[in-house]
Amino acid sequence: MLSALEVDETLSSEDFRWLSSFFENRTGIALKGDKEALVRGRLLSRARALGHSSLTTYVGFARSGAGVDEQTAIVEALTTHETSFFREPAHFEVLRQFASQQPKPLRVWSAACSTGEEAASIAMTLAEVDPSLSFEVVGTDIAPETVRRARDGLFPMERSVQLSPERLRRHCLRGTREAEGTFRLQPALAARVRFEVANLFELPASLGRFDVVFLRNVLIYFNDGRRRQVVKAVLEHLKPRGLLLPGHAEQVRDASADLKSIAVAVFRYEPSP
Ligand SMILES: C[S@@+](CC[C@H](N)C(=O)[O-])C[C@H]1O[C@@H](n2cnc3c(N)ncnc32)[C@H](O)[C@@H]1O
Repeated sequence: MLSALEVDETLSSEDFRWLSSFFENRTGIALKGDKEALVRGRLLSRARALGHSSLTTYVGFARSGAGVDEQTAIVEALTTHETSFFREPAHFEVLRQFASQQPKPLRVWSAACSTGEEAASIAMTLAEVDPSLSFEVVGTDIAPETVRRARDGLFPMERSVQLSPERLRRHCLRGTREAEGTFRLQPALAARVRFEVANLFELPASLGRFDVVFLRNVLIYFNDGRRRQVVKAVLEHLKPRGLLLPGHAEQVRDASADLKSIAVAVFRYEPSP
């Protein structure tokens, strides 16, 4: 017998099949069979929050016409949003050098930005090159709730240890009252960073072209064909001689002969005329 708050945790193989195929169609990410426990764990809290007594009824609801919004919540729950400030720090030194030599204004894209720490690190780096530097940082991600958090721009105080005291003093403000326990970018800096929901497989032309693209720690989730598809699509938004920065474990060169490796995980886009 289940008590009122308990949810029957059985995830049938038919439901797992539907979830995997829906998730792969939407995000390009394949959920292997060994991800079943992870899927069950992440969806149980959704099922509980919506008052379902079993995962079976929850998945049935998500599959139905009435559950279309829930499909977005499933994408949110099953994608991995791990990120940090100045992750893979060598890239920020590359950005600093590039920005000092480039004509301005600069446009930098944090593709798959998660909760915004990468975009904030880019903005801090550019402001450090020259406080009056003209630039725009755009962050995009497929997960709408994650993008909403990036837009809110309130970072949990525990994350402040990822920033030097000098950077915290110079670029950040401590949250007060309802934002107690968080910190944020200084408003003038935050105003130069904006966030949009965008799927790397359906990028809107309105994104325009960028001087530098951070495409980090997302390609690892795709199979080779999709990974190359995403790199090609992203290159449509990179200016000639602009930089593509994938994660250090991610391959991009096999997607285009126009990418010249100039350092570890740093590629210059040199399209043939
Ligand atoms: C591990 S985080 C990487 C965050 C950041 N780039 C970094 O390196 O710290 C991966 C992000 O990719 C996003 N993502 C996964 N599939 C995507 C897709 N098809 N289009 C856009 N974003 C996607 C996820 O929502 C998640 O926030």
